[in-house]
This record gives sequence, C-alpha cells and structure tokens, in this order.
Amino acid sequence: MEFRVKDLALAEEGKNRIDWAEAHMPVLVALRQKYEKTKPLKGIRVAGCLHVTKETGVLVRTLKAAGAELSWCGCNPLSTQDDVAASLAKDEGIAIFASRGVTSKEYYDDIHSAMKLDPHVTIDDGADLTVEMHKGMPKSIRGGTEETTTGVIRLRAMQKAGKLAYPIIAVNDAETKHDFDNIYGTGQSALDGIIRATNILVSGKNVVIAGYGHVGKGVARRAAGLGANVIVTEVDPIAALKAKLDGYSVAKMNKAAEIGDIFVTTTGCKDVIVDRDIAKMKDGAILANAGHFNVEISIPGIESQTVQKKEINDHTMQYSLKNGKRVYLIGEGRLVNLAAAEGHPSEVMDMSFANQFLAVLKLAQQGQTMKPLVYNIDKAQDQEIALAKLQSMGVEIDSLTPAQKAYLEGFAEGT
Ligand SMILES: NC(=O)c1ccc[n+]([C@@H]2O[C@H](COP(=O)([O-])OP(=O)(O)OC[C@H]3O[C@@H](n4cnc5c(N)ncnc54)[C@H](O)[C@@H]3O)[C@@H](O)[C@H]2O)c1
Repeated sequence: MEFRVKDLALAEEGKNRIDWAEAHMPVLVALRQKYEKTKPLKGIRVAGCLHVTKETGVLVRTLKAAGAELSWCGCNPLSTQDDVAASLAKDEGIAIFASRGVTSKEYYDDIHSAMKLDPHVTIDDGADLTVEMHKGMPKSIRGGTEETTTGVIRLRAMQKAGKLAYPIIAVNDAETKHDFDNIYGTGQSALDGIIRATNILVSGKNVVIAGYGHVGKGVARRAAGLGANVIVTEVDPIAALKAKLDGYSVAKMNKAAEIGDIFVTTTGCKDVIVDRDIAKMKDGAILANAGHFNVEISIPGIESQTVQKKEINDHTMQYSLKNGKRVYLIGEGRLVNLAAAEGHPSEVMDMSFANQFLAVLKLAQQGQTMKPLVYNIDKAQDQEIALAKLQSMGVEIDSLTPAQKAYLEGFAEGT
C-alpha cells in the first residue's frame, strides 16, 4: 500500500491520541458497533480530505470497520498531526498522504494521490478535493460530503453555475454540526491556539472579532468569558445587531484596528484585515484567523510595510513595521485552532463525524440515483444524533403527548 507521512515512528503516540479521542466520541463509536457486523460499506472506496487530527482518526477507524476501503489527505497545509497520520498508515493500513507544513504543490500532490483510489464517495472540508475531482472525474464517483461553511458556499456556487457533477451532502448545514462544532468547538480551540502560541493574558485585553456568525459568536463568548473586552466587526446588519444586543461593542475594522490587542478573523471572506488597518494597530498587536482559508488577514498587506521578520516560536511570526511598531501573526494566518492547537475537542467532533459517517452511508447506497445538487442533512438524522449525544451525557428530555402534538399542529384552539 502506498502512503506518505512524515515519520512512521510516531505511530504509537498517534494511536494513543486516537484512543483518547475515541473514548470521548460515544455517538460515533455506537455507529461503529452497529455497522461493523453488517459492513454496509464493503466494496465502497472513500477518499477523505479532512484535517488529520485524532478525531478524524476515529472517523477513519469507523469507516474502515463498516467495510470501506480508504485513501486520505489533509485539507490544510498546517493542520496535519503527524503522529495521527503515522498511526493511520501503520496501524490502520490507510493510503494516507499527509504531513504538517506542506507547500502548496505538495498539498495538491497529496490530494491527487488520494484521488487515485477512484473513490465512490469523497469526504471534503473546504471543497479542494471536490474541485480537483471535477477537473478529471474519476469514473466511480457516486457522491461527496462537505464539512465546512466555506466549502458549502463554494459547492453551492458550483451548483448555481451548473458545474456540479455529483451530489453533495452539506454536513456543515446539519444543526448538530454548525450549532456545536462551529460555535463551541472553534470558540474554545481558537482561544486555545492563541494562548498556546503566545501565553498571553486574555483578561483585560481588547479582542477584536471579525464576523459574528457561528464561529465569531463562539470565539466572542469564550474571549468574554476569559475577561476580554470584545469588539465585533460585521458587514451584515442583523449579525451586527445581535452582537450589539449580546453586549459587545460593534465597530468598523478601521476603528477597531486602533484599539485591539488581539484580532481574530472568522468570516470566510477575504481582505478582512488589510494594510491600512495594520498600519493603525498598537505595538504588539496579535493577529489570528479562524476562518477556513488564509485570505482573511492580508499577509501581503503586512509584508509590504515590514522591515524585519522574526519567528519567535513555532507558531508566531513577529513583523517589525516601518512605523516602528510590531505585530504578531499566529500560524501564518491559517486556522489558528488547528495550526497552533489540536483543533476541536473530541466531544463536538463526535456529532460532526456521526453526521459524516451517516452521509457517506447514504451516498454509497443512494448516490447514483441522486441529482448533482447540494443536499441538506435529513432533519430525522439531526434529531437522532442529538438524542444519542444527550443519552451519552445521561440527559433525559420530555416528549410531546398526543394532545400537545395535535395542539402544536392545529389552529382551532386560541384565546
Ligand atoms: N477553525 C475551524 O475549525 C472552523 C470551524 C468551522 C468553520 N470554520 C470556517 O469559519 C468561517 C466562518 O464560518 P461560520 O460557520 O461562522 O460562517 P457564518 O456564515 O455563520 O458567519 C460568517 C459571518 O462573517 C460575516 N462576514 C462576512 N464577510 C465579512 C467581512 N468582510 N467583515 C466582517 N464580517 C464579515 C458574515 O456577515 C457572517 O455573519 C468559514 O470559513 C468556515 O469554513 C472554521
């Protein structure tokens, strides 16, 4: 079996970390126990392009246990955990092509290597694999899944342009994904990344958060919880109003730039922090991005006014600017929670990856009869995953009586 990882000697460490994640992912483990006997994915080839983290390791084990043949690659040049990649190659026998710190060419070479499997189903995060699949379509493809907001936006744009050639299930759009993973997962792990990279005291700082969607809300809550004064920037009046009424300041980026100590972009948009903002920043300002691509903070905008650049630790670059001030960029402006920390905690990835697993199963069984459109997750699947998660936490909830159900569905009863 062909694979490309940094160092196979890291496999034992990776295996221990995947085992740890598995112990915190009861919903996904229950799916494995259910399907490892019947092996509904036997004969199905699955190519995955997802951050190679310990939680992804549990998804890989689950797909394999259900009978799938797998190839894998990373979906971001800085997010691969090399020990996990080593374990997936050595212990699980997966055709994995991934290492941390790849160049853009190596990144796409890895995607192309994973595509050689001629998959029936693709699993993607950010749509880079799906877009490459469309350039020279392997023959057997039945459908694909998409994990993140930015990927779903790209794939809906492909559908609108009439360019989408196979059905996609938008896993991100499941409530048990974006209302938990994007909010609680990124909220906690983005702060974790910033703290691991700088050990800065968040309390008392002005933290500027660009974007008040799911990720922005999560980061804002956690920064405020650590004692920061949160300032939100937005382009959507409704999101801005929500931020204001949630108790945060709202300002234009160009104003916020003058007072921020820490900046976190969470928009999925480009050029959110540009050269004129950087020129206004205080000496020592820290910049981080939690959106999918490294286009939110303009790196050319920093470099054009830099006189000296110095790596101060594995994750942080100091830029000394012409105006005599310094700014610090974490993780090259890539997803800070994966570049400088371990990504989302296992407990939230449990739900995201349970959705992924069930979406792969559906595409393997029904993909050939589905139109080439972007599909949402069934409401029933969302409810089932939420219920399983609650049960794993020992939480019970009420259910509607027949009379309540009739009342909620009817119009006869009023004042
Ligand atoms: N770091 C991670 O692990 C992780 C996890 C989930 C999602 N993501 C990524 O984070 C990004 C945001 O995802 P989301 O689910 O919060 O999306 P979302 O659509 O819920 O929120 C995005 C918000 O950003 C705002 N926005 C857009 N352009 C802006 C600009 N120029 N300035 C200020 N605000 C702007 C929008 O109005 C919106 O409110 C996406 O790229 C997504 O793929 C990352």
